[in-house]
Amino acid sequence: MILEVLQFPDPRLREKAAPVRKEALDTELRQLAADMALTMYSEPGIGLAATQVGVALRLTVIDTDWATEDGERNLRVLVNPEIVEREGRAVSEEEACLSVPDFTADVDRDARVVVRARNLDWDEVTIEATGLEAFCLQHEIDHLDGVLFIDRISRLKRDLYTRRRKRQLRRERESATSAVSAEE
Ligand code: NI
Repeated sequence: MILEVLQFPDPRLREKAAPVRKEALDTELRQLAADMALTMYSEPGIGLAATQVGVALRLTVIDTDWATEDGERNLRVLVNPEIVEREGRAVSEEEACLSVPDFTADVDRDARVVVRARNLDWDEVTIEATGLEAFCLQHEIDHLDGVLFIDRISRLKRDLYTRRRKRQLRRERESATSAVSAEE
């Protein structure tokens, strides 16, 4: 099932997600992970955090391979991911987010990270990543803490985007209202 991805400024995107307990690794959680993967591929995106579909649990799906030319799917489901090492600085170019419509920005990130997580069988997995994969991991783990990439750009750029987004939502509401009154 394709899930609805929450859009900024939905307050649920600001929730800090709770760790997944081993006992919680049931069919329902597997289904959620499968639905999140389906949603990510259909949007399309390269990562999705449970926070973005209104579930405040530390669960993310990522696949930074499939969107490249001739790329094959290489889905990773990460339970309780945590950055255990970070090194160097780099700028992610034109970072974007399925929850932040119509906006991209360059973001200062760690150049290399080591992430420790569990998979759906509760095995420990360690990922050492650089480049796009490192940026994606940082972006998704941020979501689990209620942090969006626009929190990591200058206040000026963020304010400009926030105002533009509010105007856009106002216009959408107004056209919805006028469509309703036209039907009456
Ligand atoms: Ni995002």
